[in-house]
Amino acid sequence: MTLLLPLVLLVLAILGLLWVFVPILSGIPWVPTRSARIQQALDLAGLQAGETFYDLGCGDGRVLIAAARRGARAVGIEISPIHCLIARLRARLTGAGGQVVVRWGNFYRFDLHDADVIFWYGHSRYMAKMQAHLAAKAPHGARFVSINIDFPGWQPEAIHKQGLIFLYRFPPPAGDVHSFLLLEEAGAVRKNA
Ligand SMILES: C[S@@+](CC[C@H](N)C(=O)[O-])C[C@H]1O[C@@H](n2cnc3c(N)ncnc32)[C@H](O)[C@@H]1O
Repeated sequence: MTLLLPLVLLVLAILGLLWVFVPILSGIPWVPTRSARIQQALDLAGLQAGETFYDLGCGDGRVLIAAARRGARAVGIEISPIHCLIARLRARLTGAGGQVVVRWGNFYRFDLHDADVIFWYGHSRYMAKMQAHLAAKAPHGARFVSINIDFPGWQPEAIHKQGLIFLYRFPPPAGDVHSFLLLEEAGAVRKNA
């Protein structure tokens, strides 16, 4: 009995360490997207009921749940096992479990052939790697929403400037944010907040 409390504390400490350090070791610490920003991203992507939505590095599953609430089939891939468990639990508790699938692993190893919308809240350090990954794996016509990070050589289809969210459609036309802004000024592309 006297051993039970230290044992529980030890297990909690290990889980806490895994929670913090697995994402850090992956190179992208867990920083959840704020709910208003999630809605901005889903609006920008024009996510529709029945579409398949991927969150690459889904953290605690909050983006998946928001996508499922819009009627999408939401697939999350997450390298941290504790985040995977929490994401699955949250999806069940919020009633979104039937539409949410959480896969444990490295998202670079997963296929995206059925993706309509791909969401990524990553880090600029991995921009080139993600760009190569998407160029190889994103299906024709898929939309990609990127939080904070724009991709050189790719012209966004739309930008949420306040939210710093970039939307690309595959295969993205050659260009960049600058060429997008010039077109926007000329009234030739979709204007967003
Ligand atoms: C900035 S957080 C974003 C979490 C969630 N998408 C959100 O917006 O709230 C990045 C997440 O990506 C995960 N991650 C980083 N690299 C990964 C990889 N190669 N494969 C799977 N998950 C990864 C981290 O563990 C972390 O949970």
